[in-house]
Amino acid sequence: PRSIYLLDFLICLLATTGVRVFTRIAQESLHNRRQIAGEKAVLIYGAGGAGVTLLREIRSNAALKYKVLGFVDDNPQKRGVDIQGVKVLGSGNALAALTLKHRIGEVLIALPSATGPEMTTILTRCHQVGVRCRTIPALAEVIEGRALAHQIRDVAVEDLLGRTPVRLKQSAISARLGGRVVLVTGAAGSIGSELCRQIARFRPSAIVGFEIAETALFHLERELRQSFPDLLFHPEIGSIQDPDRLDEVFRTYSPALLYHAAAYKHVPMMETHVFEAVKNNVLGTYNVALAATRHGVEDFVMISTDKAVHPTSIMGATKRLAELLILSLQNGGMKYVSVRFGNVLGSNGSVVPIFKQQIAAGGPMTVTHPEMRRYFMTIPEASQLVLQASTMGNGGEIFVLDMGVPVKIVDLARNLILLSGLRPDQDIKIEFTGIRPGEKLYEELNSLEEDTLPTPHEKIKIFAGNGLPSAGMESYIETLRDICAHRDLSALILTLKEIAPDYNPSAHVLQKAFHDSPATPVAA
Ligand SMILES: NC(=O)c1ccc[n+]([C@@H]2O[C@H](COP(=O)([O-])OP(=O)(O)OC[C@H]3O[C@@H](n4cnc5c(N)ncnc54)[C@H](O)[C@@H]3O)[C@@H](O)[C@H]2O)c1
Repeated sequence: PRSIYLLDFLICLLATTGVRVFTRIAQESLHNRRQIAGEKAVLIYGAGGAGVTLLREIRSNAALKYKVLGFVDDNPQKRGVDIQGVKVLGSGNALAALTLKHRIGEVLIALPSATGPEMTTILTRCHQVGVRCRTIPALAEVIEGRALAHQIRDVAVEDLLGRTPVRLKQSAISARLGGRVVLVTGAAGSIGSELCRQIARFRPSAIVGFEIAETALFHLERELRQSFPDLLFHPEIGSIQDPDRLDEVFRTYSPALLYHAAAYKHVPMMETHVFEAVKNNVLGTYNVALAATRHGVEDFVMISTDKAVHPTSIMGATKRLAELLILSLQNGGMKYVSVRFGNVLGSNGSVVPIFKQQIAAGGPMTVTHPEMRRYFMTIPEASQLVLQASTMGNGGEIFVLDMGVPVKIVDLARNLILLSGLRPDQDIKIEFTGIRPGEKLYEELNSLEEDTLPTPHEKIKIFAGNGLPSAGMESYIETLRDICAHRDLSALILTLKEIAPDYNPSAHVLQKAFHDSPATPVAA
């Protein structure tokens, strides 16, 4: 009968696919049961796309030495679901029980857009049962094209303060950075180094890292080489105070785009090093801007600070002058813009490293007041917004980044204690020291509402009151150079006020400039 052919075909089909399906199931179940010596039993927290990708990567890379025993997911509908042979065992509430039952050695959080409070809850639960927890980076940090499993890291304080991903118009940034040579000054600093990382994601033809701090640049180069093996990164030692060296570097690489992040930034230190502040932040910026013009750079982006708004410090005043300088150089050809923002979390010398030192010393941690709040941005967030802002405008703008919601300093302190695996108030005490004169409980958000215009991005505004100086900035540059050479403090303060009339010098500087005897040396 003719049906024999059909039957024969069906039997063959069943036999071949059956063998394949059986082999696959057997392999998976063997893989699931077998735990190779040295492998760590882990749970993946998050059975979404990132969690599944992580599972696949862990399985295909034995060197990671992870054995995934299950997923944890807070979505009740995922409970019991089988994902490539690994089950969703329960929700976060069951984390402690699951960890003990399956002798879990580590929890891997695969929730790239988890909020700060969600991350804090997971971390607290892991601490309660004494299991280590690590995470894949937040969306802002994920390096595309690199396995997620290779990006697993410890949970950081930034994760606990919210990981609201910045909405970026990637195509505009890509179109601007892709295939271009980008020069970053102050490349090894907190902002400069993150700019390098973020720029690297957009495949420039090369990044030139110009920096005076040799060791920091050395470390940055190593890190970038590891994270972005295809990136052409040229570390270049030099000072923005040295025009010849700048010329040499610009001639060598002909950068198309420039991010200027080199500066002195510590407010109290600059109050006693006023001439150095002017030489670096104003005259240095002028050198970089001139070199950029001479060598045909298309876009110049200066990193500024909200301390430049109604400045009350030398640091703030010098950054305001740098902004005005940049504006005065805008003449229609090359595009000069500045981007202003407030504190970033964890930058060199900021509150986070100080808290970490206090924890390392066994406490106590000192916080001014239980209600003290400050605005913070994460460094990746600020850097991404800088890249976005630099795709906007026609030149001559000062962009201002929206700092979001203020953070309670005491929460920051508690989170840092948790991250060290210790218990706030029990292992490490927090002491309230009281508000100092002139200090505010709540930071005002500098003129964001009243003096700014919107842009297509909700977190980027344009400062509307540029206030260009009447006389040419370039003649002021010569005056400032002369004043610095002669160490004439009173002339400096008067000139700073003339250029930036809203500069309000500190009592310390006024005393030194106008009341101390002329023989009193001012640190330089
Ligand atoms: N950190 C913040 O919270 C924050 C917030 C807003 C704006 N900013 C602004 O960003 C800029 C950079 O700040 P940061 O936090 O990255 O500081 P940082 O000290 O970490 O980085 C500055 C880098 O510039 C380098 N540098 C200084 N002088 C130089 C010179 N003459 N030549 C070459 N390199 C030089 C330093 O070695 C350092 O690596 C500053 O203008 C600051 O006001 C910082």
